[in-house]
Amino acid sequence: MLNKKTILITGANRGIGLQLVKESLNKNFSVLGTFRNKLKSKELYDIKSNSLNIFEMDVINETSILNVSNNLTKPLDYLICNAGINNGFGNLFDSDHSHTSMLNVLNVNVLGCVLTIKYLKKNLNSNAKIVLISSTLGIQQHIGSNATIYRASKAAVNNIMVSVSEELKSENITVVSFHPGWVRTDMGGANATLSTKESAKELIKSFENLSFKDTGKFFNYDGTTIKF
Ligand SMILES: NC(=O)c1ccc[n+]([C@@H]2O[C@H](COP(=O)([O-])OP(=O)(O)OC[C@H]3O[C@@H](n4cnc5c(N)ncnc54)[C@H](OP(=O)(O)O)[C@@H]3O)[C@@H](O)[C@H]2O)c1
Repeated sequence: MLNKKTILITGANRGIGLQLVKESLNKNFSVLGTFRNKLKSKELYDIKSNSLNIFEMDVINETSILNVSNNLTKPLDYLICNAGINNGFGNLFDSDHSHTSMLNVLNVNVLGCVLTIKYLKKNLNSNAKIVLISSTLGIQQHIGSNATIYRASKAAVNNIMVSVSEELKSENITVVSFHPGWVRTDMGGANATLSTKESAKELIKSFENLSFKDTGKFFNYDGTTIKF
């Protein structure tokens, strides 16, 4: 079909990313999903649709992002930086906050978004929308001491979102971040309030409602703005 919107979603093999793929296909988008490890991507591979193309990509490996960039045949209307990790819900003094695990979280969550945008920018359509999946745990005014470095990573994601939105204003590209809600995934856990379907369905609807006037803002999954 002509004029199909094209969306690229990172971390598309499970969790919110996988459901974003399914909801985008339901909306008749042309969908590009990225995964890191084929062995962990069966559900993504099992989706049978001519509108889905999948690529191996690690968001902290510049060569792998460039490889995707060089193999894209259509410009992107939406670039969704969804891939992310959490080193745990402890605080700085807990064992889950080892130097290595803290570096990993900052690397994947912060630099992963930066590198994805840096190397896929040339694939964007005019008027494209870049969405960084952030979290309300990244809001600066808070009273929590848990998930210290994950919080910091998402605060950085929101800060980078503002910088990139300023950088790309002259090109009419919209750059925003979204909180997906508390979602039942490997990261969100079984007690989370939303299913991946509830989150992803609303997220896609909210992405479709974005316009350039929204650039630089942080949104909840339902499209309402959040102060950060
Ligand atoms: N779930 C929640 O309640 C919640 C709340 C707020 C924000 N978020 C954010 O929402 C996003 C998705 O979270 P989720 O709950 O769906 O998590 P998830 O189920 O743990 O899935 C994380 C996804 O990110 C991918 N990923 C991790 N490191 C990567 C890397 N270096 N390169 C490429 N892909 C990588 C994973 O791939 P592998 O399978 O290869 O590991 C997986 O596809 C994250 O940014 C998270 O911080 C989630």
